[in-house]
Amino acid sequence: MHAMQLDRLLHSQGFGSRKECRALIRAGHVSIAGVSCEDPFADFDPGSKDGSAGLEFQVGEQRWHYRAKAYLMLHKPTGYECSHKPTFHPSVFTLLPQQMLLRDVQCVGRLDQDTTGLMLLSDDGQFIHQWSSGKKRTPKLYEVTLKHAVGEDFVAHLLAGVELHDEPAPIAAAACELSSETTLRLTICEGKYHQVKRMIAAAGNRVEALHRSRIGGLDLDGALAPGQWRWLEAADLHTLATYD
Ligand code: URA
Repeated sequence: MHAMQLDRLLHSQGFGSRKECRALIRAGHVSIAGVSCEDPFADFDPGSKDGSAGLEFQVGEQRWHYRAKAYLMLHKPTGYECSHKPTFHPSVFTLLPQQMLLRDVQCVGRLDQDTTGLMLLSDDGQFIHQWSSGKKRTPKLYEVTLKHAVGEDFVAHLLAGVELHDEPAPIAAAACELSSETTLRLTICEGKYHQVKRMIAAAGNRVEALHRSRIGGLDLDGALAPGQWRWLEAADLHTLATYD
């Protein structure tokens, strides 16, 4: 058993400073597996060493499970910025419980404010680096709505590669198919600034709407409405890492 003091345990999960957590506990706001505990120094086995759900506890009305690391999926709505200090729109972090901010959850890569779809967030620095680094060449699938109708020649152009300003070599789509005359399923393996919009512009068209539906092997959960999030479980992390 790897025991942890209750004040330290709550602090690690984003419920405030150690002092604030001690006050919450002493005031009788905390219960563990359904039993109230008013001793901040009582030891508990957190029951998780990774992102899996461990010990169940309750703070006020909030029921929570201890997780040593936080890995989340968010269905990003349009009109939100992926920054802690947004300029013109609210931050995606306003869509998450405050505990996520206190445990320093960050976005894994960024989407433009008007892009929707799958966003990963975590407080695991190694995970953030691994999945946002262009070096890993993780495929990301985008559903692209175009301004002007196109044919197979447009798809062929993206697959052959387009010249982007400031890029030494042409950038090619890893995969691309038409879903209709004005919608494409486009896969890219880099994560360059405004990459999809710039590729489409370089091929002579314009993006009207952009939605990311997959990262690696992981699809956006269809049960999540725009603005909703959920934890990633071990099976999701495995799926993320395995793709064709
Ligand atoms: N490419 C873009 O142009 N915008 C995004 O948000 C993501 C990829």
